[in-house]
Amino acid sequence: MKPTQTEIEEAATRLAGAEAADILRWAIERFGRRLAIASSFSIEDCVAIDIAHAVDPGVRVFALDTGRLPDETYMTAERVRAKYGTEIEWQFPDREAVEHLERTKGLYSFRDSLDERHECCGIRKVVPLGRALADLGAWVTGLRREQSVTRTDTPEIEWDAEHGGIAKINPVITWTAGQVRSYALERRVPIHPLHERGYPSIGCAPCTRAVAPGDHPRAGRWWWENPENKECGLHPVR
Ligand code: ADX
Ligand code: SF4
Repeated sequence: MKPTQTEIEEAATRLAGAEAADILRWAIERFGRRLAIASSFSIEDCVAIDIAHAVDPGVRVFALDTGRLPDETYMTAERVRAKYGTEIEWQFPDREAVEHLERTKGLYSFRDSLDERHECCGIRKVVPLGRALADLGAWVTGLRREQSVTRTDTPEIEWDAEHGGIAKINPVITWTAGQVRSYALERRVPIHPLHERGYPSIGCAPCTRAVAPGDHPRAGRWWWENPENKECGLHPVR
């Protein structure tokens, strides 16, 4: 059964500041197979998968294959699949929409303007995300407050009106990069190889690059744009 806004807001208040495992336990008990983890196979997402898997080994995981992901993302996905025995529910973009985009605008239209970039993210990420969430009552992300000026107020549990009124669960939202890394090393969670090569944040290959030590963690995402634009529509700007 889909949640009500009141139910989600009450849970958000009750579980504010709770341990990630307790947040996930509540969510998994409440939503069962109507809950899935959205994974880009960044270290945060793999940590969230590890915690959720300890609560329920059958927890669902989906991933958006934009067609432009770095090979290291696929390698990490395979390590996750092998370690946890979890089917990764890959979601592809609409074939005709991608073909039309590439045939009419070429392969790098996202560099031309913010609108063109949003068009590509819309086709390759936002529409497939909507499809992945259509039957769910809750989705889990690896968002963290530290990542972006657009995420500093994000709570552990939120009402996601944009996706038809479901719960959005952000179990590691308060974690620092150091906490995530310590957890991953201790629990032998698969770590995306690009993190070791200067990529704190991982997205599509042509839109992500390494950052210098001390740079903002998302400086390498759409590096030609302003910081306030650095969302792709998966997560609304707050
Ligand atoms: S993005 O909006 O800029 O692309 P970011 O890379 O920070 O998002 O990831 C934030 C969260 O969005 C991840 O922790 C994950 O839950 C979800 N996410 C991002 N990319 C994907 C993807 N390709 N497939 C599934 N979930 C994703
Ligand atoms: Fe397209 Fe870049 Fe967005 Fe990926 S991140 S969907 S390649 S604009």
